[in-house]
Amino acid sequence: MIEVRNLQKSYGALDVLAGVSLHVEQGEFVSILGPSGCGKSTLFSILTGIEPADGGEILIDGAPPTEPRPCAWMPQSDALFPWRTVEQNIALGFEVAGGHGRREASERARALLPTFGLEGFGDTRPYHLSGGMRQRAALARTVAQGRDTLLLDEPFGALDALTRTDLQLWLGDIWARERWTVVLITHDVREAVLLSDRIYVLGPRPGTVVGEFEVSLPRPRGIATLGSPAAAELEVELLQALRVGQDATL
Ligand SMILES: Nc1ncnc2c1ncn2[C@@H]1O[C@H](COP(=O)(O)OP(=O)(O)O)[C@@H](O)[C@H]1O
Ligand SMILES: [Mg+2]
Repeated sequence: MIEVRNLQKSYGALDVLAGVSLHVEQGEFVSILGPSGCGKSTLFSILTGIEPADGGEILIDGAPPTEPRPCAWMPQSDALFPWRTVEQNIALGFEVAGGHGRREASERARALLPTFGLEGFGDTRPYHLSGGMRQRAALARTVAQGRDTLLLDEPFGALDALTRTDLQLWLGDIWARERWTVVLITHDVREAVLLSDRIYVLGPRPGTVVGEFEVSLPRPRGIATLGSPAAAELEVELLQALRVGQDATL
C-alpha cells in the first residue's frame, strides 16, 4: 500500500537519508527502529509531504501520492493545543479531515473518548492530564483524521517505563480490534517486538535500512510474550543490527 523507493534527503551538506526503501501493507503494523538522528522523523515529514525528498519515490497503492495524503501523522511531541479541551483537540482531527461541521466534529470526538480511555475527560485541558492520557488523546486526534495509515513518531518516548508498558499493551489491544495500518517510529527494541508484524532497522545517519525482520510471535501478545525464547532471540538480533556501523567503543 505504501512503497518507499531509494529515498534520499539532505539538509545542506548534511546527508540524512541515503536511499531508504521500504513497504507497508494494508492493515500491517510496521516499526522503524533506529538510533537518534538517523532520519526517522525526516522520513515521516517526507511521507506526509511536509518536506520534499531529494531523490527516490513514494508510491501509494502503486501511484505517486495525491493530496491530501492518506497518512495521519502523530508528531514526536504530543502537540495538543493547551487552550483546547481534550474533546476540542480530538475534534480538530475531524475538522482537518474535512466534511464535518463543528458540532458534528465535537459529537464524534466525544464518541471516541471511551475507546481511548478518556471518558469523563472531554472537558479537561491537556495540562491536567497524565502523560499517558495526553498521548492517548493525541492518538485519538490522529485517528480522527480518518486517513488509511497512522504514522506514529515515538508516541511513548517521553513516558515513564511503567506507563509506557501500559500504553504499549493498550495500543496492541486497540490495534487488534481496529486493524489500522500503522508505521511506528521507535528506538525501543522491546516496543517494536511487542507490537509489530515487521520491523525495519535503520543504521546511523545517513539513514539506510540495515535489516528487516518478520515478527512471527503469536497474537494477542502480552508481557509473557516478551519472556518467550523467540522474543528474546529477536531482541538480540535487533540489538545486533542496531550496532552495525555504530562506534563499538561507545
Ligand atoms: N529542517 C531541518 N533542517 C536541518 N537539519 C535537520 C532538519 N530536520 C532534521 N534535521 C537534521 O537531520 C538529522 C535527522 O533528524 P531526524 O529525522 O529528526 O532524526 P531522528 O528522528 O531519527 O532522531 C538530524 O541531524 C537533524 O538535526
Ligand atoms: Mg525523531
